[in-house]
Amino acid sequence: MKELKIFGIVAAFTLILYWGVEPFAHSQMHKHVEGDDLKYSDLKPLTVKGDAKRGESLAMACIGCHSIDVKNMPAPMDAVAAAQSFGVNPPDLSLAGKLLDEKFFAHFLLNPAEVTKSKHFAMPPSASSEQDAADIVAYFKSIAPKEVTPKEGYVFACGRCHANRYDKWTQIGDVPKTKSNIKTGVDLDALEFKKKLGTYQNKLADYMGKLPPDLSIIYRARSEHFLETFIEDPQSQLPGTAMPRVGLNHEGLEKVMAYLESTGDPSKPKREAIGPKVLGFFVIFAFLAFLWKKSIWKGHH
Ligand code: HEC
Ligand code: HEC
Repeated sequence: MKELKIFGIVAAFTLILYWGVEPFAHSQMHKHVEGDDLKYSDLKPLTVKGDAKRGESLAMACIGCHSIDVKNMPAPMDAVAAAQSFGVNPPDLSLAGKLLDEKFFAHFLLNPAEVTKSKHFAMPPSASSEQDAADIVAYFKSIAPKEVTPKEGYVFACGRCHANRYDKWTQIGDVPKTKSNIKTGVDLDALEFKKKLGTYQNKLADYMGKLPPDLSIIYRARSEHFLETFIEDPQSQLPGTAMPRVGLNHEGLEKVMAYLESTGDPSKPKREAIGPKVLGFFVIFAFLAFLWKKSIWKGHH
């Protein structure tokens, strides 16, 4: 009986510590930011409907800087040359209509710097009226593929600025498979790639003020809530940051989070699969123990 009491006290104390102190300390250390559920409420609702056909010809102005892979339109220059002109490589636009919020995308074309809340955004305004903007958005919605992988979402929205070491992603693409010379051990192709990446990263750091961090394990370092509200509006968590608001819709955010989770916490699916097995084991074990007890006590009554 005494042991039970001691156990009760210890258990209660642990719970109080866990539920009371830990979340309290957490709320003191990180200010809580409420998200806006990706509504981008600061931007006015669109008053016009887009026409994809008109948008198609207007979008020809975009390929002066961007590629559109789904339409086999290549970028006018490679990532490193683009960074030398703009500080960063303009993303491929195949997924823009699928992963960006429609209202955000249209306002973004009219005024990139203000809408992304970054003081300098290397893209000039690229639509001259709300109608043109809506038409371009309608066009990009019409060409977007049906299925998008988490990685494709990440590459489109974040990959030009953030590497992901665990997935061998760099800002200029996947790390290529190369071989060393057998006699010297020197891998010239790998060195060539490193030099290109270094040139890109130096330009990017000049443009952003610092090199954006590798995001391999950010999913473990930051809470899901922090990441979601930060991506929705970086200024809400880091006032003055150079990271732009990228304007993802729900599907876009879901893809990016799934990718970050897959590289940051790769054993989670395994762990979650173990839970039910352990519970199943206990149920079976309890049942056997019960049968055993019954058989032992049989005849003793
Ligand atoms: C003069 C070159 C140039 C032109 C023309 C241009 N862009 Fe861009 N665009 C850029 C650069 C550079 C970036 C990346 C800037 C950054 O990340 O700071 C960018 C970024 C973007 C993004 C990513 C925005 C986000 O939310 O992260 C989209 C979408 C986009 N452009 C769409 C378009 C469309 C559509 C057009 C044509 C109507 C267009 N751009 C024309 C240079 C250009
Ligand atoms: C145009 C470049 C650019 C793009 C695109 C971009 N970021 Fe960033 N990001 C930055 C920079 C620069 C920083 C460093 C911010 C600072 O310290 O002020 C940063 C910081 C971060 C951080 C660290 C925040 C912290 O305090 O730990 C996270 C997380 C992050 N970005 C996630 C993303 C995700 C996810 C995407 C895609 C949805 C993305 N970023 C797109 C430039 C970018």
